[in-house]
Parts: sequence; structure tokens; C-alpha cells
Amino acid sequence: MIKSSIRVRTLFELRALLGEHRRAGRSIGFIPTMGALHDGHLSLVEIARQKSDITVVSIFVNPTQFAPGEDLDTYPRTEDADIAKLEQVGTDIVYLPDVAEMYPDGSKTNVGVEGMSDLLDGIYRPHFFYGVATVVARLFIHVQPDLAVFGEKDYQQLQIIRRMVRDLGFPIDVLGGETVRDADGLAQSSRNTYLTPDGRQRANIMSSVLHRARSRIAIGVPVEVALKEARARIEAAGFDKLDYVSAVDPATLEDLPDGPIARGQTGRILGAAWMGKTRLIDNMGFTRS
Ligand code: PAF
Repeated sequence: MIKSSIRVRTLFELRALLGEHRRAGRSIGFIPTMGALHDGHLSLVEIARQKSDITVVSIFVNPTQFAPGEDLDTYPRTEDADIAKLEQVGTDIVYLPDVAEMYPDGSKTNVGVEGMSDLLDGIYRPHFFYGVATVVARLFIHVQPDLAVFGEKDYQQLQIIRRMVRDLGFPIDVLGGETVRDADGLAQSSRNTYLTPDGRQRANIMSSVLHRARSRIAIGVPVEVALKEARARIEAAGFDKLDYVSAVDPATLEDLPDGPIARGQTGRILGAAWMGKTRLIDNMGFTRS
């Protein structure tokens, strides 16, 4: 179903529009994005559409989650193509704020979820989750949704947002959407467009390595043994640099202890590695049989 989305660029217009929907008793579902949309994003829109009356998607490349030297300037910006995709899946409102709208001149207020933001990806990108929490908190205040949907592809981000919502008492249900993968298993990501043809051919090794490691842990292989094998396979596959492969508690993101996990126990395996200039991340859940 193709439906014209309403494009809104200012908080003033957004509040007026959403105020009418709220007064009419309509619920609002929200998906924050940085654009360069792929099927993974569109699957999140589908979830919001099923669970709410009005679907709002924001597109904002958030400068505070990029460190100097990262890809802020080259991050793909494809607004017209993004809006065409959003219209195909029936998005009602696309919010396109600029930097001044999100960070009014002289802005000094930041949000950070300490601890969880400093693990895993936070070790390699120490600024990242602080920028994400700050912009998502601001977007939540702008949109005031009833529910918000984030991809499980960015599992650490999803858990940090859940924690922020709990700690600050935002009246918002946070839902996770399953990772959408290409046919060979590679998790879809806006940054996959940076891969060279050769890198693209090998990039799916990350998902196959995590898949095997989680199956091994799930049948009782000691965590440290499965992780050692996974790290060796990633290094042998020609990735340029391995940041981490870790198996963690799915809620706290703390490392699981060495040894086999208990029957019925759940966990999450996460990995990050560089293929040329592209940093690939992926993760999967598991339960011990
Ligand atoms: O996952 C993303 O695209 C971004 O981190 C988010 C949540 C839109 C915040 O800028």
C-alpha cells in the first residue's frame, strides 16, 4: 500500500500535528533512524504499524554519536529514496529535524546510561552510546510516542534504551525487531554499502561464526572454548581487525563466566570486526538446551 507521508521539519509543526492525533485518541508508534534505510528499518515500521494508529519515523544523522575521524561527513544521506521506501510501507509522518532543532544553540543537557554504555562497543567507541541516549531522549520528548521500535541488530543500543526508559520513567513501550539478513546471513546495515565486492563476499563469515559459537554454548561447550574458536575463525577469515566476540547476560550485558552455562539459561553472543573500512557488528541470542 503506497501512502503519502507527511514530512515535518520542525518541532513546532510536529507538536501541532501529533497533538491532533492524540486528542483524537490515536496511539503513536515511533522508529528513530539515521536514514539510508534498508529492509531492516522497514520491518520495524511494519511492527509499529501493527501496534499503533499513527507511525512516525525520524531521519536524523546524529553528530553526537560520531567521534572525530568517524564517518559523520560520509554517512550515506538518501532522503528522497528513504521517504519513497517509507511511503511504500505506509508511514504516516517522517520527522526530518536539522541539527539546530535537535540541539538548540547552547544546548548543555546530555543523557547517559553509565556502565552498559562502557562495555562491548563502548570500549571501542566510548562516546557512542552517550550520543545515542542523548538524541533518543530528545526524540522521545519531541515525538512522545506510546511505543518505539529498535532493531536487535544493535542489541547493546536496544538494551541501553530500555534501561534509559526504565530509569527516567518515559511512558513508552520499547520493542525489539529481529535482525533482517541477506540470503547469505549478513545482517543488513546502512554501512554495508561501504564494503568492497571482495569484502562483501567474506562479510557473512561474522554471522556464520556467531551462529556456530552460540550453538556450541547452547549444547554445553564451555563459554571460553566456544569464544576462542570463534575469535580464531574470524581472524583466519581475513577480517582486518577483531574488536571483540563476547557472550553476555542478555539483560545486563555482563560477560558470562567461563564454563558451561546452566540448562535453560539464556545469553547473547555479540561480535564486532573490521573488513577494510567497514566495521561489522552482529549478535544472536541462545538458550542452553
Ligand atoms: O540506530 C540508529 O540508527 C541510531 O543510533 C539512532 C537510534 C537513530 C540514534 O541516532
